[in-house]
Amino acid sequence: GRKEYIYYQEIDSTNSQARTLASKGYPEGTLVVADMQTTGRGRRGRSWYSPRNQGIYMSLILRPVLPMKEISRISLLVAVAVAETLEEELDLPARIKWPNDILVNNKKIAGILSEVVSDMDGIEYIVVGIGLNINNQLQDFPSDLRTPATSVRVEDQRLVSRVKVLQGLLVRLERRYFDLLAGSFEGTLEKGKSLSLAIGQELKLDTINGVIIGQAVDIDDYGFLLLRDQSGIIHTIMSGEITILS
Ligand code: BTN
Repeated sequence: GRKEYIYYQEIDSTNSQARTLASKGYPEGTLVVADMQTTGRGRRGRSWYSPRNQGIYMSLILRPVLPMKEISRISLLVAVAVAETLEEELDLPARIKWPNDILVNNKKIAGILSEVVSDMDGIEYIVVGIGLNINNQLQDFPSDLRTPATSVRVEDQRLVSRVKVLQGLLVRLERRYFDLLAGSFEGTLEKGKSLSLAIGQELKLDTINGVIIGQAVDIDDYGFLLLRDQSGIIHTIMSGEITILS
């Protein structure tokens, strides 16, 4: 259906702007995009490098009507949509580093920052922010990144239309999101497992509660990571940061 689309040449952060608009009542499906961000935000208080015209910087307002326990599925859904867009539209071997990083050849090409805003009655809205490196050149990336970065241009030596990639991404996000709302998550889960780098690997997990070393055994029906630690106990991990060891 018709969706509101708000474009900025320059903004502090599309996520911050989408939160402001959502708090004023902007509806589900509102899309905020910008050609550059002055203070693009990443996970864990990090920043997201957002130079003009080189990447896709977008945020979507969602107001899902879903049982609370199914909300976490949105995170995997977004990662799947980004990875499959890179695969299907651009032929890049994109993989998901659970939960939120999209890698190509072990370098980060996209990141996702989902922010859930709740009130007394439950979830008020979710802002899903996606940053995707498109036409950046290698020498333009900051040198102090935690994970080495890449872009479509670095991987494929070509310039592509950001609008075309954005359209491809929105089609896939919408399709999988409507499936989810209709109670169908199985296809997204299976796709997410097959695109996921972590499953079967030894890894180190950093959470707010400490570090766990173990083997990722599966992703469950809610998008959580199942991690078997060295004593054989299986932990259900809702969020955190993984380092693949093997
Ligand atoms: C991460 O990997 O740490 C997440 C990065 C998310 C970046 C995107 S760019 C568009 C949106 N607006 C922001 O300020 N952040 C997200």
